[in-house]
Amino acid sequence: MAATLADDLTPFSGVQPDGAWRDEVRRLARERDAVLLAHNYQLPAIQDIADHTGDSLALSRIAAASDASTIIFCGVHFMAETAKILAPDKTVLIPDARAGCSLADSIDAAQLRAWKAEHPGAVVVSYVNTTAEVKAETDICCTSSNAVDVVRSIPEDREVLFLPDQFLGAHVKRETGRDNLHVWAGECHVHAGINGPELAARAAANPDADLFVHPECGCATSALYLAGEGVVPETQVKILSTGDMVTEARNTRATTVLVATEIGMLHQLRLAAPEIDFRAVNERASCRYMKMITPAALLRSLREGRDEVHVDATTAARARGAVQRMIEIGKPGGAE
Ligand code: 13P
Ligand code: SF4
Repeated sequence: MAATLADDLTPFSGVQPDGAWRDEVRRLARERDAVLLAHNYQLPAIQDIADHTGDSLALSRIAAASDASTIIFCGVHFMAETAKILAPDKTVLIPDARAGCSLADSIDAAQLRAWKAEHPGAVVVSYVNTTAEVKAETDICCTSSNAVDVVRSIPEDREVLFLPDQFLGAHVKRETGRDNLHVWAGECHVHAGINGPELAARAAANPDADLFVHPECGCATSALYLAGEGVVPETQVKILSTGDMVTEARNTRATTVLVATEIGMLHQLRLAAPEIDFRAVNERASCRYMKMITPAALLRSLREGRDEVHVDATTAARARGAVQRMIEIGKPGGAE
């Protein structure tokens, strides 16, 4: 199923994440021989019950290596699809298939084919936030934690088409200094809403704080600008994937950290470094698709075996090489 966003996004509700729920989830997971994976933006109760919580690269790697016969992917649809591409013989369930992604929706396979036709011979690098059909048209996938390494792995003289996130693309272009990298003008509605003026005001009010900024943010450029202008010391500005934020939380000496990404991230950061005061740059930056994986949805998934994720064999075979290259390149990504 392509991740075209559903009209009705009312989450499954009516179940409290209490002790009885936790016992039932664990019992059903054992019964199904299922591993529970949760992205860092999931609701805290879902992160806490999962076997592994992490960024999209780390979760892809875990899905590929797992012995479990069923993967329950608590995240958004493209992540579960990626797990299915890597593990076609396993049953992959997402607790609510309506959990899409506005960024993945910003380019489809026909648009990518047309773009490729304008740049024959270019290497296509797609962020993992894309549908299986787009991945099937891609040479190498990447995530925020290895995007720079992936582009560096491509010979300097080859043109690169980078999609779909314009802010991550700008970050990669800056880091690699490549002029022959073309960037698709897509964006994530949640991260684009974390803007530069907001970040600048928060940084000015907290001059000693570290800034942890996800490269999908509209403010990533401003964060680097603030550092360049000396408003915030360069060492305090850190452009990081969600998994790398957790690693950095354990290493920083800062007592306050301003976090520019989806607010679900704060839960793992506070668990990793309880002594640090983590503050969201934008408290309204919540991804409604991620939050559709509710306690009720997870229970339904385990009881009814829903929603099963299918990727047709031809598309999966074409996409697999690009996804495999993604998990082979760069740092391992972060998961607990
Ligand atoms: P990460 O790759 O950093 O986990 O981010 C995924 C995502 O959807 C960000 O919005
Ligand atoms: Fe997609 Fe944005 Fe939600 Fe991440 S936060 S899953 S990019 S809509």
